[in-house]
Amino acid sequence: MSKVEEYIISIPDYPKPGIIFRDITSVLRDADGLRLAVDEMTQCIGDTQFDAIVGLESRGFLFGMPMAYNLHKAFIPVRKRGKLPRETAHISYDLEYGSAEIEVHKEDITPGMRVVVVDDLIATGGTLEAAIKLLEGLGAKVVKVVCLLELKGLHGRDRLAGYPTETVIAYEGK
Ligand code: PRP
Ligand code: MG
Repeated sequence: MSKVEEYIISIPDYPKPGIIFRDITSVLRDADGLRLAVDEMTQCIGDTQFDAIVGLESRGFLFGMPMAYNLHKAFIPVRKRGKLPRETAHISYDLEYGSAEIEVHKEDITPGMRVVVVDDLIATGGTLEAAIKLLEGLGAKVVKVVCLLELKGLHGRDRLAGYPTETVIAYEGK
């Protein structure tokens, strides 16, 4: 397991009883933790050839942007719906309670573009699954998914089958 794990504070029973919240702000507040996390996530891309990093609002921005900067690549935001000013494509997906919608500027994704999708966490995998559908609907090829954390007990990877997925820290439970 990565040394980054030492910087993550786990909060039991947040936001509700039975849930252990894995806080990434305790990684970011430490200069060494921040550098380790961004560098290890950058290394997860390996020698995969790609055109741009797509970060998922909001916690995916915190890692995707510095990764793109590190590699001198473009960064494209996927945002929660209603925030982007140019023409967008959007998709809705189910949450535990209710649903959410995300969107991307249509002209930012060109057919055949190879993208790496970055977020902080794979829980159920629903957010990433929706983002992949959105991007591939515009003709992009998702060549890698990189996250800092995954909660193996929720089997989010099952929803990302066929997409090479790398995480820095995997927790066994939920
Ligand atoms: C959290 C987290 C991931 C997603 C993981 O984002 O940052 O994006 O949930 O859950 P899933 O695998 O079950 O989809 P959230 O929607 O809470 O918003 P935030 O990033 O803006 O905090
Ligand atoms: Mg998020």
